[in-house]
Amino acid sequence: MTNETNETNETNETNEPNETNEPHVRTMREGYQRTGLINLIKYIEDLDMKNIIMAEIGCYQGESTEIFCQSEKIQTIYGIDPWNMFGGGKRQGFRLHDLVAVEKAFDNRVAPYNKVIKIKNSSENAIDLIDDNSLDLVYIDGNHSYHDVKKDIQWWTLKLKDNGYLAGHDYNRRGIHRALAICVGEVEQVFDDTSWIVAKKNVKFYLKKQEHSV
Ligand SMILES: C[S@@+](CC[C@H](N)C(=O)[O-])C[C@H]1O[C@@H](n2cnc3c(N)ncnc32)[C@H](O)[C@@H]1O
Repeated sequence: MTNETNETNETNETNEPNETNEPHVRTMREGYQRTGLINLIKYIEDLDMKNIIMAEIGCYQGESTEIFCQSEKIQTIYGIDPWNMFGGGKRQGFRLHDLVAVEKAFDNRVAPYNKVIKIKNSSENAIDLIDDNSLDLVYIDGNHSYHDVKKDIQWWTLKLKDNGYLAGHDYNRRGIHRALAICVGEVEQVFDDTSWIVAKKNVKFYLKKQEHSV
């Protein structure tokens, strides 16, 4: 595995200053968070894929979705997010997100590209709307808990074509690292923004939603 990153650039909401409890819209993709994702897309573009059909799980205000939209090789993006369950102030120090404004920002950001099929639902429900073996790329950036990421990896891999690629964000988060260790083993590359990528053929363990998980 080539690892372009280090342990320090993990996105960590709880480290943010919490000067106010006013709901806010957070910027997710500035600096290395942006260039890292652009490099992941270049990696995909260098593979011999055309008219890429992909799903992004967890779009927030669409900054990453817009970066995907800007690739000429990407034709269709299923943008999946419930826009109702991020933050919420349940944990101390966790700032509230203005999810109405977040969703509106997503809509405005992706509209000009005419490539995004918005699915306002959780990953777990959206998966029933997508055919098995139909996607070239899945990018996982939804709920970051170990159990949710493990389910996302196991269930969404089945949605990929045999030559498809599974990718996601926050490689250095403990839960994500653990889920990848169990389901994938070694990923192929980790980028500056801690996005990771692996070919479907190298995912060790995946299954249908109805089957019993490891
Ligand atoms: C870290 S943000 C995504 C950031 C975005 N991909 C970017 O890079 O700009 C996580 C998003 O996942 C969404 N989310 C949380 N649980 C989810 C679930 N079960 N299924 C789909 N999305 C979920 C949240 O609503 C939130 O918008």
